[in-house]
Amino acid sequence: MVHLRIVFLNVSVLLWTGTGVYAQNVFNYEEQKNLSRSYTIQVQRFLCIDTPYKETILHECRMIFRRNQRSLLSISLEMPNVYHFLMIQFQLHYKFINYQPFLIDARAEGCDLMRDRKNDPNRHWMYGVIKDMISSLVHPCPFGNRTYTQIAMLKEEYAPRSVPAGEYRMDAKFTTQTNVTLISLQIFFEVRRKGILKSMLEW
Ligand SMILES: *[C@@H]1O[C@H](CO)[C@@H](O)[C@H](O)[C@H]1NC(C)=O
Ligand SMILES: *[C@@H]1O[C@H](CO)[C@@H](O)[C@H](O)[C@H]1NC(C)=O
Ligand SMILES: *[C@@H]1O[C@H](CO)[C@@H](O)[C@H](O)[C@H]1NC(C)=O
Repeated sequence: MVHLRIVFLNVSVLLWTGTGVYAQNVFNYEEQKNLSRSYTIQVQRFLCIDTPYKETILHECRMIFRRNQRSLLSISLEMPNVYHFLMIQFQLHYKFINYQPFLIDARAEGCDLMRDRKNDPNRHWMYGVIKDMISSLVHPCPFGNRTYTQIAMLKEEYAPRSVPAGEYRMDAKFTTQTNVTLISLQIFFEVRRKGILKSMLEW
């Protein structure tokens, strides 16, 4: 079973994080975000880690659980300094025995990303997700000199049309040019199939 899982992991990583032709066909965010998904996402835990931060003040980081509705992720981060460079990193993990990097490992510099998506599917995906999920961050450079307050939701549309059921963790990290962490988030969630297919082999 472990062998099968590893094979599947490798295939999907190739399909999805490659910069080749596949990336675009497999997941074009703007085209695919409106299409229905065969699974649901339930956020179970939300953490801001590596606190306290050196250059920012975290006023709020909590999950608001809602019965039969998406949980809300509430963040309020004061950024007194001004930044002309902001590294944004998204990394998805899938829980095999422990959490392993899976499908998404994307990073981009924020000022550059706000300016131009360069017709790169990975950048389009990142920009699209940031625009829909943490819209307070979508503004021209510089970043900072303000408090970013955001109520966010993790939606199925941010993920590909088909992903294996199971437990996941999405990490999002924002760092300065000198690699100082401004905020580092972990969203723990479960993917459940809508239909009767439950196995890792049937996604
Ligand atoms: C997706 O849906 C939104 C609003 O429901 C709409 O404005 C947008 O044009 C749609 N995009 C595509 C590619 O169909
Ligand atoms: C910070 O924001 C204030 C008010 O929005 C503005 O007047 C000031 O010029 C900004 N400072 C910097 C360094 O951008
Ligand atoms: C930034 O710092 C983290 C630890 O906080 C380290 O793991 C990482 O390798 C550093 N990245 C760069 C580009 O220096």
